[in-house]
Amino acid sequence: MRLHVHPTPEDAATEAANLIAAQVTDKPSSVLGLATGGTMEPVYALLRDKHESGLSFADAVTFNLDEYVGLSGDHPQSYRRYMQHHFFKHVDICQSSAYLPRGDIPPEEASEEYETLLQKFGPIDLQLLGLGRNGHIGFNEPLSSLASRTREKSLTKSTLDANSRFFNAGERQPTTAITMGIASIMDAKRIIVLAVGDGKADAVAAMIEGPVTSMCPGSILQMHAQVTVIVDEAAAAKL
Ligand code: GLP
Repeated sequence: MRLHVHPTPEDAATEAANLIAAQVTDKPSSVLGLATGGTMEPVYALLRDKHESGLSFADAVTFNLDEYVGLSGDHPQSYRRYMQHHFFKHVDICQSSAYLPRGDIPPEEASEEYETLLQKFGPIDLQLLGLGRNGHIGFNEPLSSLASRTREKSLTKSTLDANSRFFNAGERQPTTAITMGIASIMDAKRIIVLAVGDGKADAVAAMIEGPVTSMCPGSILQMHAQVTVIVDEAAAAKL
């Protein structure tokens, strides 16, 4: 694992956006693995700016990590809507090449369909990952099988609490999601993990310096040969 510590969250997001831009410049038909969450919002803002300055995503294929079960792609809290809002609708990506798991069909069917697409278009050239406060990657919560493929996962209380800020009061928050599995993520050729803020410091330390264990799904990344962890000083504080 390579670790890059930046003074600020903005600097960390800038490096992540630069690596994605370099990947697409180098290989316009790249298969990109994309992530959602608050951490990624500045990354997509920077990529939108790069698009304004000429970076094209027209030949890229994208796969997002996860989607809530029970939400259709046009639901305001769905991850497809997040991606539309923060990235897809602002750039020249071909909508039919921008994949997310489907939350509006039976989860088993959606999982099988997604894994088939990943096998067809993969391997992912560059996978962007965030990190949950409990060490999750995608929605692979602690105790997920390290050999898992795309499937439905129940979300833990800590993840539900952390993500409740995105839901309005009284709005139903899904308690399960379809997520690429840990083995699906490990198939990527190269992985970037972006984590910022002191709320991620324990998870960052466990991911990098702890044992490889399903208690901290991010720790499996120690077994991948091409991982860059990009953090700010607050997220690096417990290393
Ligand atoms: C969600 C997503 C993850 C993301 C995590 C961190 O749980 N499924 O892919 O990494 O949140 O989110 P945030 O960046 O908002 O802390």
